[in-house]
Amino acid sequence: MVEKKILVTGGAGYIGSHTCVELINSGYTPVIIDNFSNSEKFILDRLKELTGQEITLEEGDCGDYDFLKSVFKKHADISGVIHFAAYKAVGESSKLPLKYYENNLLSTINMLKVMNEEGVTNFVFSSSCTVYGEPDTLPVTEETQTKPAESPYGRTKQICEDITRDFSKTSDTFKGIFLRYFNPIGAHPTSLIGELPLGTPNNLVPFITQTAAGIREKLTIFGNDYNTPDGTCIRDYIHVVDLAKAHIAALDYLLDREDACLEVFNVGTGNGNSVKEVVDTFQGVTGVKLNYELGDRRAGDVEKVYADASKVESELQWKAEITLAEALKDAWNWQKSLG
Ligand code: WQD
Repeated sequence: MVEKKILVTGGAGYIGSHTCVELINSGYTPVIIDNFSNSEKFILDRLKELTGQEITLEEGDCGDYDFLKSVFKKHADISGVIHFAAYKAVGESSKLPLKYYENNLLSTINMLKVMNEEGVTNFVFSSSCTVYGEPDTLPVTEETQTKPAESPYGRTKQICEDITRDFSKTSDTFKGIFLRYFNPIGAHPTSLIGELPLGTPNNLVPFITQTAAGIREKLTIFGNDYNTPDGTCIRDYIHVVDLAKAHIAALDYLLDREDACLEVFNVGTGNGNSVKEVVDTFQGVTGVKLNYELGDRRAGDVEKVYADASKVESELQWKAEITLAEALKDAWNWQKSLG
């Protein structure tokens, strides 16, 4: 069988590592690029344990053009690229905007430049529902008007989409897909890989599991006076394994396609759940009583956002299958495995 080598930037990270597992399960050969600025090397050992394969690692920074060029020269048979590598902490991005713009934009510009120079035409970009801001109508479709993002992180995602879109207009061979993630949660059911937030978690589910594990004293629910059934914000929580599989579906689509294209897909479950529902579901599936309080709203939070996932289901034949309850159980098992 012809080897289908896929470059996975940020491949040792949360979504990247789960995607490497699904790439191997689907007959692809991942090559990981990672600088370990927001990931851990032991994940590569776990990937070997999980897949039985030694995944090639090219340690370095996509912001370094010469490094990236050398990777393409070394792996002359790359069929496609999945570009995860980016800083992604919404709160931190407001404190360190230049770090976010430099890293997230330069890595994408370098990648597109080297792909173009080396004749690699299949590109899957890790984007985010944050590009929609506070949507006027729900559920959001790919045609929903994007709004100025609420954070420099979100703006880097919007700008990287624009950079890619403008580049694609100059190429008659480039085939790109933006996957706009909603809220990735959970961990691999083997508990061999999962989320490793640096420092205090910004995101809800790792904060919940660390509170349940006694690492955090209590969870604060940011606001219960929103215009939602229970007053807490609504999001579309998608299991990271389902999300990983969406990348395989995107690659399959691109490798099958002859003509140049640039497609956008919302990758969510299509269901909205409130923060309180997540907390209650977590307590129900784990039997762990969570210590939480109701606190003030968090600046920048949107009230409600969840996907209309009909396009990805019809065009990529992908649909989220794992429930919120299962995702929270997997997240808890992963947390317990960390000791
Ligand atoms: C979810 C809900 C919080 C923590 C961001 C990015 C998105 C993606 C996922 C990278 C909100 C509430 C949270 C807490 C809480 N990031 N919450 N107490 O903000 O929807 O999305 O992370 O890919 O691009 O925008 O996710 O998990 O931070 O928050 O009440 O301690 O949980 O207010 O309503 P968010 P989140």
